[in-house]
Amino acid sequence: MKTGPAAISVDEYKNAMRHVASAVALLTFRDQAGWAGLTTTAICSATTEPPTLVVCVRRDLPVASRLRAAGVFAVNFLTDAQADIARRFSTSSQIECNPFDTGDWSEGATGAPVLAGAVSSFECRIERAFEHGSHDLLLGLVQDLKMAPGENLLYRDGFFRRLLTE
Ligand SMILES: Cc1cc2nc3c(=O)[nH]c(=O)nc-3n(C[C@H](O)[C@H](O)[C@H](O)COP(=O)(O)O)c2cc1C
Repeated sequence: MKTGPAAISVDEYKNAMRHVASAVALLTFRDQAGWAGLTTTAICSATTEPPTLVVCVRRDLPVASRLRAAGVFAVNFLTDAQADIARRFSTSSQIECNPFDTGDWSEGATGAPVLAGAVSSFECRIERAFEHGSHDLLLGLVQDLKMAPGENLLYRDGFFRRLLTE
């Protein structure tokens, strides 16, 4: 759908973004219904002072409203040995099989589920939330963090990938 003479279509935008490698993270939280989470790439550092991440979640996903209500979340950046866990968290068919059965999970200081062995895990409190088009943009103030050895899991052009060191 063209939105103006100089505008690009949603498909053109998606296609160009598919060419950009992104670090893969599991975005997780806890609420009354239990632990929940999804595979994400739309996550990056927003500000260093204060330490803040921005995460972008499709508003039409059932977890989106739960996440905002939960108020806290964890971002677990995966290693290239954790692609199977990323696959488990990338579909809502997780209702039938609990994706938290895979991996070594425990609750962090905020109560959000934190994955052992993730290259970096950040626990965040939602400071601000914005609605923009299809997504919720959440600014998360970092409350706690953990690091582990390993290389980032990447995603590009529909495939999970490894970092190549020159
Ligand atoms: C590599 C990858 C990255 C993703 N990144 C995001 C993201 O940043 N934000 C988001 O809302 N959904 C993202 N998704 C989609 C969600 O993981 C997915 O919609 C969610 O797990 C629910 O599954 P469903 O779409 O089958 O209902 C991504 C999926 C994959 C495979």
